[in-house]
Amino acid sequence: MNPSKLRDLYFTFFRSKKHAFAPSASLIPLNDPSVLFTTAGMQPLVPYLKGQPHPEGKRIVNIQKCLRTVDLENIGDNTHHTFFQMLGNWSLGDYFKKEAIDWSFEFLTGKKWLNFSLKMLAITVYEGDKDVPRDEESFRLWKKLGVSESRIAFVGKDNFWSAGETGPCGPSTEMFCWTGDEPPPNLFDPNDIRWVEIWNDVFMMYNRRENGSLEELKQKNVDTGMGMERTVAVLNGKKSAYETKLFQPMIEKLEKLSTHSYEEKKREMRIITDHLRAAVFILGDENGIVPSNVDRGYILRRLIRRAIRYGKLLGIEVTFTPLLAEIVVKEYGDFYKELQENKENLLSELQKEEEKFAKTLEKGLREFQKMAAESDVISGKEAFLLFQSYGFPLEMTQELAQEEGITVDEVLFKEEYEHHQELSRTATTGKFKGGLADHSPHTIRMHTATHLLNEALRRVVSKKIHQKGSNITPERLRFDFSFDRKLTSEEIQKVEDEVNRIIQKGLVVRREEMSLEEAKALGAESEFGVKYAERVSVYFVGDYSKEFCGGPHVKNTHEIGKFKILKEESCAAGVRRIKAVVKD
Ligand code: ALA
Repeated sequence: MNPSKLRDLYFTFFRSKKHAFAPSASLIPLNDPSVLFTTAGMQPLVPYLKGQPHPEGKRIVNIQKCLRTVDLENIGDNTHHTFFQMLGNWSLGDYFKKEAIDWSFEFLTGKKWLNFSLKMLAITVYEGDKDVPRDEESFRLWKKLGVSESRIAFVGKDNFWSAGETGPCGPSTEMFCWTGDEPPPNLFDPNDIRWVEIWNDVFMMYNRRENGSLEELKQKNVDTGMGMERTVAVLNGKKSAYETKLFQPMIEKLEKLSTHSYEEKKREMRIITDHLRAAVFILGDENGIVPSNVDRGYILRRLIRRAIRYGKLLGIEVTFTPLLAEIVVKEYGDFYKELQENKENLLSELQKEEEKFAKTLEKGLREFQKMAAESDVISGKEAFLLFQSYGFPLEMTQELAQEEGITVDEVLFKEEYEHHQELSRTATTGKFKGGLADHSPHTIRMHTATHLLNEALRRVVSKKIHQKGSNITPERLRFDFSFDRKLTSEEIQKVEDEVNRIIQKGLVVRREEMSLEEAKALGAESEFGVKYAERVSVYFVGDYSKEFCGGPHVKNTHEIGKFKILKEESCAAGVRRIKAVVKD
């Protein structure tokens, strides 16, 4: 079965169960400084899981672009991918366990749908802990549908799901499919890797507080995630998505470029195609970014450079990353239109990055070999030299060291790094792990200030100005907008004064839901390049500003405090950038 067929069936099925379709959110959550990438379909839905009404209603179906970098070392095995697509259906305070399980069952086994034989399936449910009871209800529901007891296992912490340390969470029931060459055993062993998890229904009814304790959410939700890659693999009788249409065209290209076969060089080809597919989705995202040495840009760089190194190991001599990227755009661009729209840009970024790195890679590798010959430990200074002079991400040096059976002094590398520049927080904080939005009051104040800034620019400087992007960290807000020249210092001052004037007016902020058409007709500001659902939420700041936005915002502009612009600079051709702060 083709990936697009699976996607269509999923949407048709859940539409028939009265779910509204919501487009995939960006891979790069702009107003959320606590996460680098979207890691699950529920992540953009957090406000709605917590009780805010969703403009599309209480039942949602979608496919979400996701990126997880926690298990980069696992890439190359059968079932893990850095970038993957998650099919999902949600109940936002509507149906709960019975319907979720009935519908999962119907979709998996129904003749019109995936038509899996019950013999091939197995289920896990939550065994309970001191705070949360054992999930007897799910166990009974599956049994009633005909799943034999020997195929249902009670499992501990793997069946309690949350995206981060705090936020919405709950017990889950997971569906597994047999992928072994032998007939499936009667007794289900969840630790046997031939049983592959393809779908997870989470009963999201709790919120984990900062102090680690659980409270019940206002509403009981269902959050499900079906891994498209894994499901396509099993539906096609393959062990892995690499052997399906999702990756085959890229792999065939690699075979031609390298004159090795996939069977000979499975791990290398899997790493290259996984990483480059992820890189294309990051570069080509509606909020796309480029390689750099900090945060998201650093992860992107690591992915691209690791793919390049493996390409060289396969003996590829040409600049190959744009060639593979073209295939990704061709295969995925019909559905993910942003890839087509950003094609030129993403190809040229890859070209640049590969050319830059190819120049230093070989010399760096020779340097590394010398270091490795001299000692069993690559010192912090040496690892830093490889980083600084040859562009080797620390993780690449670590991987090279591991291949040689030696180690890298990571602690001293980081000291060295900090010594030379402020250490990117990415590498040392838990940011790689993803996690939920921490909508702190300070961040929320900056978010509302961003709306005021947008409108103030339009009123004070030019009506032609529109938002091109924004980003908020605990330290500052950043706002990108279309405009073709530098602002004068008088203009900057006027804009700042205007924002402060509105703050002092104490305008009430309110949210309304309406159809996309109504919102457009009202002239609400939207961000260029962002896809919106049929129904949208619009935030009004008094009668001053109206913008498409999911929130959250302050209730009254008084809460924002004092607004100050720090900097105005160029960001890209025809795009300017303002950095600003709010203070008490
Ligand atoms: N949020 C759940 C997951 O990612 C469905 O597995």
